[in-house]
Amino acid sequence: MTNFPVANIRADFPILAEKIRNKPLVYLDNAASCQKPNAVIDSISNLYRHDYANIHRGVHTLSVRSTDKFEAAREKVRGFINAISSKEIIFVRGTTEAINLIAQTYGKANIKAGDEIIITAMEHHSNIVPWQMLCEQTGAVLKVAPMNMQGELIYDAFEALLNDKTRLVAVAHMSNALGTINPVQKIIAAAHAKAIPVMLDGAQAIPHLPIDVQELDCDFYVFSGHKLYGPSGIGVMYGKQALLEAMPPYQGGGDMIKTVTFEKSTYAGLPYKFEAGTPSIADVVGLGAAIDYLNNIGMAAIAGYENELLVYATGQALQIKGLKIIGTATDKGAILSFVLDRIHPHDIGTMLDSLGVAIRAGHHCAMPVMDFYQVPATARASFAMYNTKEEIDVFISGIKGLIEVFG
Ligand code: ALA
Repeated sequence: MTNFPVANIRADFPILAEKIRNKPLVYLDNAASCQKPNAVIDSISNLYRHDYANIHRGVHTLSVRSTDKFEAAREKVRGFINAISSKEIIFVRGTTEAINLIAQTYGKANIKAGDEIIITAMEHHSNIVPWQMLCEQTGAVLKVAPMNMQGELIYDAFEALLNDKTRLVAVAHMSNALGTINPVQKIIAAAHAKAIPVMLDGAQAIPHLPIDVQELDCDFYVFSGHKLYGPSGIGVMYGKQALLEAMPPYQGGGDMIKTVTFEKSTYAGLPYKFEAGTPSIADVVGLGAAIDYLNNIGMAAIAGYENELLVYATGQALQIKGLKIIGTATDKGAILSFVLDRIHPHDIGTMLDSLGVAIRAGHHCAMPVMDFYQVPATARASFAMYNTKEEIDVFISGIKGLIEVFG
């Protein structure tokens, strides 16, 4: 493996020193949620200990300090995805809320009966259900671009779906169930050639790939903080400023207004128009700390190291008789979904837990993907920058052991 500073990184994550069932924790459930470094934990604790008050409201010192930290985090997010302006960074609860926000504001304002929205066959429920709800409300039609057995988008079939009725393309940058990295630049160029905006669900891609929204030229990019080594309950909706300006607000309440009378209210400018109510202040600050931490390591180095982990794990897994990898795209992030002959994924998950190894077993909030492969569920190991080759060895030998037990 390259000389990636994994030992130093591991030392920054206190939970990695935990013992699970008297065994060292091997945490391979990172696609569900990543663990948190001291820098994130301390930033939250320090805010509450020294600087906490409500933001954007007070003239007192603590409110100013909290506001400064909150807005500094917004600027860190802007830099991390290279947005033009911090007005384009809207804090939400997570990817799911971001997609619902877009569906219920941009969608309701721009999509009507007979219009079409394109998603792909590998979407997470969060990038299916909000569009189904919008279609029910408006009479629009959801179109699904197919994938092949490797779990790759059939690009020509996607392109053939683009037409005069298409109002939005919403696709996963990286699939949570399969690991597939979609050809988003090609997708965006093709959609834009027909003046169709594109939303990327970046929930899985954001911790694994350097993201530059200007280079991608996507119209919306959404992600969650908790998969980026930050706190849960906080996420980001990026949107191009002109689109956000034209969109109606999502929720009404405090902070998102300019003036209120009983007859009529007017709304604040960006980004506050979309941030009704007291936000998750400490979690935003924690997300900023996660971004500082990642910038220090470098996303390109992280991507390279995780790819080495994936290649190693895949090579090991392929040698196990009776193991089938679900999702074998050429362009793939650090996710290994698999099934074993005659052993249910839940049993795999439970048995591995007894060895201290945490994986996810289930449909991964992607039931249509399970239907496509005709499996009830898969077992999924998902890797992060703090995982090691030795941990993969423990995981692989655990699988071999359970095949022996189950025969
Ligand atoms: N979407 C998360 C996962 O893939 C929860 O596990």
